[in-house]
Amino acid sequence: MPVWGEAPFPPYPEGRLVPFPPSDARNRDPWTQHHTKRDQNKMYSILHDLNQKPEPFPRYTTDTLWTDPWIAQQMLKTHLDQGTDLASRRFRTIDGTVGWFERKIGLSGKKVCDLGCGPGLYATRMAARGAQVIGVDFSTVSLSYARSEATSRNLDIEYRPADYLTDDLPGEQDIVSLIYCDFCTLSPKKRRTLLKRIKGMLKPGGAFVFDVSTTPQFAERREVVTYARRPMGDFWSPDDHFGFQTTFLYDEEKIALDRYLIVGPERQFEIFNWIQYFDPETISEELREAGLVIEEKLSVRTGEPWTPEADELALISRA
Ligand SMILES: C[S@@+](CC[C@H](N)C(=O)[O-])C[C@H]1O[C@@H](n2cnc3c(N)ncnc32)[C@H](O)[C@@H]1O
Repeated sequence: MPVWGEAPFPPYPEGRLVPFPPSDARNRDPWTQHHTKRDQNKMYSILHDLNQKPEPFPRYTTDTLWTDPWIAQQMLKTHLDQGTDLASRRFRTIDGTVGWFERKIGLSGKKVCDLGCGPGLYATRMAARGAQVIGVDFSTVSLSYARSEATSRNLDIEYRPADYLTDDLPGEQDIVSLIYCDFCTLSPKKRRTLLKRIKGMLKPGGAFVFDVSTTPQFAERREVVTYARRPMGDFWSPDDHFGFQTTFLYDEEKIALDRYLIVGPERQFEIFNWIQYFDPETISEELREAGLVIEEKLSVRTGEPWTPEADELALISRA
C-alpha cells in the first residue's frame, strides 16, 4: 500500500487548520508559530513532489484503487450507480455493447473470459445469452457481488480472484474481453505482457474484444491542480481528509496522469491514474506485434462502424 511518509501531519484539533494566534502573539505569523521548521520542510517537500511531472508509468497504484478494503466498497457502489459512468458504464449502454457482441461474434455456447470483470455486469449478460463465462478480477469485493448476482439469476459463471498480469489464466477460449478502457491504464511493457497472455488464452481464430480511449478525447484534457476537503465525499476515506489532484499531460505520447494525494489525520496515500489515448494505427501496431489482427473498429455503444471523432474505440481482433 503506497502510504506517503511515515510521520503524519501535525494533528489539527477539531479540523481547525491554524488556531487563531493569542493576543500577545498578534504580530507573529500563525503558521510558523504552530509548526516546527521540520513540519514546514516536510509540507514543502510533499507539495513539491506532488507537482513534479514524472516520466510516464514509473509508479502504479492500481492495487490501492481497486483492492483497498474501504475504496473497493465505494468503487462497487460507483460501478452500480446509474447516475454516473465513472467506474462502469450505465446498464443501458452495457446492454447495447453485449447486444453487438452477440450480433458480431456470437455468444451462445462460446467460452468467454472477461478480464477485469468487476461486479460481472458484462459476464452476467453474456452468460444469460448462453456463453460459458469465466470472470477474472483482483477485487474480491466486486467478485462477491458478481457471484451473488449469478446465484440469484441462476447463471453458472466462474469468478476467479486473480491479477491478469501475473496469475494463471484460462486457455482454449473463444472470446477474451477487457472492457472499459482498462488497456489504456497500462504501460507499454505491461500492455505487451497482457497481449501476449491474451493471445495464449485464445483458440486459433478466437476473438479479443476490448476498447480504448482515443486521441480526440486526449485533445479535450487540460492540466489542472485542485485541492478540496473530502473532494468525493466518503469515497477515499470515511474519516475527514483533504484531496489534492494534479493532472499532467504528455502531448507526444498522448498520455494523461491524474495524480491524487489524500491526506487524513491517520493515513496519507497517493493514487496515480495513467491513461494512454490511442488511434487505430497505434493500437493496430501493438496488436500486430502480439500476433493479433484487427477485424473490426466499432462504436462501443452501438457496434456501428467507428468514426474518427469518437472519444472511444471498440475493437474486435483475432488470434
Ligand atoms: C474500470 S473497471 C471495469 C470493470 C468492468 N469491466 C466494467 O466495465 O464494468 C476495471 C476493473 O479491472 C480490475 N482490474 C484492474 N487491474 C487488474 C488486474 N491487473 N488484474 C485483475 N483485475 C484488474 C479492477 O479491479 C476493476 O474491477
